[in-house]
Amino acid sequence: MPTAPTAAPATGSAPAGSAPTGPGSDGPGPAGPGSDGPGPAGPGSDRAVAVAAEEFVRAQTAIGAVPFVPEVRLHLAEEAIGLWERTESAKGEIGLPPPFWGFAWAGGQAVARYVLDHPEAVADRTVLDLAAGSGLVGIACALRGAASVTAAEIDAYAVAAIGLNAAANGVAVEARCADLLPGDGSPAEVVLAGDVFYERAMADRVLPFLRRARARGALVLVGDPGRAYLPREHFTEVASYRVPVVADLEDAPEKTSVVWRLDG
Ligand SMILES: C[S@@+](CC[C@H](N)C(=O)[O-])C[C@H]1O[C@@H](n2cnc3c(N)ncnc32)[C@H](O)[C@@H]1O
Repeated sequence: MPTAPTAAPATGSAPAGSAPTGPGSDGPGPAGPGSDGPGPAGPGSDRAVAVAAEEFVRAQTAIGAVPFVPEVRLHLAEEAIGLWERTESAKGEIGLPPPFWGFAWAGGQAVARYVLDHPEAVADRTVLDLAAGSGLVGIACALRGAASVTAAEIDAYAVAAIGLNAAANGVAVEARCADLLPGDGSPAEVVLAGDVFYERAMADRVLPFLRRARARGALVLVGDPGRAYLPREHFTEVASYRVPVVADLEDAPEKTSVVWRLDG
């Protein structure tokens, strides 16, 4: 993952029956904005799980403008470790992934800035925001007239955050709780990814996915602040920014974050 949070949170216990579905769960995930309807509302139902996830995101964040992308407002957390602990406590599990969804990562801020300043990249085109986290990149695309935006995530809390954040910005983003990496991102004409090269295992899956999307003709852009596993040899730089970041997530208050276009 990006440089921090670096410490694992303490274990907590969960109120029975109240935990949202998280990554690795067996269920289909919460009924996000892209779900087929409200469904049954009993305890443990998809709908109840989605509502619990939304309540958790609301309770743990405050709405604010993204520093480098002030056109977008997000439900943002103040610090990572405490939120990570509370997420594990709410789920009653340890070893969960960090709460990426509570922050605007440097790579995502760069792609969102680029899209807002170059609307021709996405206007009237179908867009996939891969590994969307808060949904920042997809929301920027929707603000600049994308024909449709799908935001893909494997974390049910992120799916909840994407729905809340899209609503806070008055745009439509379909949040999908799905691992799309075995595919090629079809039918999206534009595939965007902010900050996805922070782990070798993920990078080893993301690059082939992006190359398949590029091979079928999609425009593929990624934002990256110098993560260790970015395969630069496949990319051409299209923009570079100094992006302010949350202090306890990174090793500096600002990161140089580059928007790269995949060439092949
Ligand atoms: C560092 S965060 C970046 C979030 C956002 N793109 C940004 O720049 O603010 C990486 C995100 O990738 C998500 N992720 C990891 N593996 C994934 C997969 N196979 N499919 C979709 N999302 C994934 C994580 O849940 C996490 O939210």
